[in-house]
Amino acid sequence: MPCTGGNRHLKTVTVGLLGCGTVGEGLLNLLAEERDEIAARAGVEIRVTKALVRRKDAPRKAPTKGIEFTTRLERVIDDPQIDVVVELIGGTDVALKGVEGALRRGKHVVTANKAIISQYGDRLLKLAAQHRCGLAYEGAVAASIPILQSLDHGLAGEKFDLVAGILNGTTNVILTRMGSEGAEFADALAYAQEAGFAEADPTLDISGQDTAHKLVILVHKAFGVRVPLRALPVQGIDDVTPEDIEHARQFGYGFKLLGIARVTDLGLDVRVHPMLLPIAHPLASVSEEFNAIYLHGRGIGPMIFYGRGAGSRPTARAVLGDLVKVASDDGALVPRLSMRAETAIKLAPAGRTTLMYYFRVTFTDQPHVLATVTNILDECRVEVHRIHAMGRQQGTIVMLTHPAVERNMQRAISRMNRLRYMTEPAKLFPMLEY
Ligand code: HSE
Repeated sequence: MPCTGGNRHLKTVTVGLLGCGTVGEGLLNLLAEERDEIAARAGVEIRVTKALVRRKDAPRKAPTKGIEFTTRLERVIDDPQIDVVVELIGGTDVALKGVEGALRRGKHVVTANKAIISQYGDRLLKLAAQHRCGLAYEGAVAASIPILQSLDHGLAGEKFDLVAGILNGTTNVILTRMGSEGAEFADALAYAQEAGFAEADPTLDISGQDTAHKLVILVHKAFGVRVPLRALPVQGIDDVTPEDIEHARQFGYGFKLLGIARVTDLGLDVRVHPMLLPIAHPLASVSEEFNAIYLHGRGIGPMIFYGRGAGSRPTARAVLGDLVKVASDDGALVPRLSMRAETAIKLAPAGRTTLMYYFRVTFTDQPHVLATVTNILDECRVEVHRIHAMGRQQGTIVMLTHPAVERNMQRAISRMNRLRYMTEPAKLFPMLEY
C-alpha cells in the first residue's frame, strides 16, 4: 500500500466506499469523530475519497466533505489512488461485482455483506489470496461483536462442541416485544425498520435467512466447514405467536431465534429455528437488537460474546475495526488458504439427529384427544416429559418432549395435522438443551 501521508509516521490510506446508506453514514461519522484517536493508536489516516451511491444528491447524515459521489462502480474500483474498497451496499448483485472487481484490481476489501460471504466466500477468499489482497468481513456477523477475529486468533486452536447464536437484531426485537409487552408483530417490525436494524427486504430477517447467512460464516470460522445454504434447515419467526411465548414462559423457558451448530454422533448438525431455551441460559436474557454467541469449547467450556447486533454505528464499528487493521498492516488480512483449518467433520444427515421439542395442537372439543395424541407419539417413538392441556369448546395441548429423532417428530406432527378436529396446523419448535 503506498505511503502518501504528510506526517512522518502517519500512513494515509485512501478508501472508496460502495454504498452510503445506514452503515456507510455510520462509518463516515466514526471516521470523523475518531480521526485523531486512530492516527495516534494505529498510525494511519483513513481518507474516503469516492462513494458509489444510487442518488448523488440524496441528503446524508454524515460529513461528506472531500468525497466524490458517483453512480458508476468503475469510477471507484478503477481509481488507482484507492487502496481499500469498503462494500456496504448489501445484496448480491452490484455488491458482488464490486467486491470481485476490487480484488481483481489488487485492492483490499472490507465488507459487511453476509449474503455474498455466505454464498461466494470460498471464491472470494481464493481471489483475494491470488491477488495478495485482504478480505475482511467482521461486520457481516453480529455487528459490533468481534467474533470472527476472536475465532481466527484468540480461539484459533479451540475445538467446539456447540456454537449457538442470536444473530439477528430485528427478530430479537420482535420476539422481545411480543413476549414482554404483548406488542403486535407488525408494530415491533415497524420499530426495527425505523431504527435501521431490518434488511431492505425484511423477509430476509423474518424468514431466518439472514441468520442462516451469518451462521454459515460462523460455522466456517469455528469448524472449518463451509455449509451450503441450501443444506440448512431454516425456520423463521412468522409462526411464533404471543401464546407460544407465554406457554414457554410457564414451562420456565425463553423463546429466541437461534442459529446453532452442534457436534453430534452423526456429524455436525447446523440449523436455524425459533427455539426454547431454559430461562437461566445466558442467551435467554439477550433482548431487543442485542446479539450474543454462546460457544462451548472442549478446552475452555462455555463462553459468551454479547453486544449490539444491528444498526448504523454497531455495524460501522466492526467495519472500521477491519479497516484500521488492513490500513495499518496491509498483509494482515490476506487469506492464507494453505493454512486454513480443514476438518474431517461431516454434516449430519437431514432429519436423523435428536432434539427436544415443544409442540402445541389446538382442536375443537372432542373426547380422547389427549389419548389419540399420546398414541401417535408412542407409535412414532417420541416420549413426552411435560404436558399442559386446557380448554373445553376449543382445546389446546402443549407438550415438551424428551430428545426425539427429528423425522420421527415430524411424522408425528403430520399425523396429528391430519386429524379432522385439529383447528390449525400444530406449532413445532425445538429446544436448546445446553
Ligand atoms: N437485519 C440485520 C439484523 C442487520 O436485524 O440483525 C444486521 O446484520
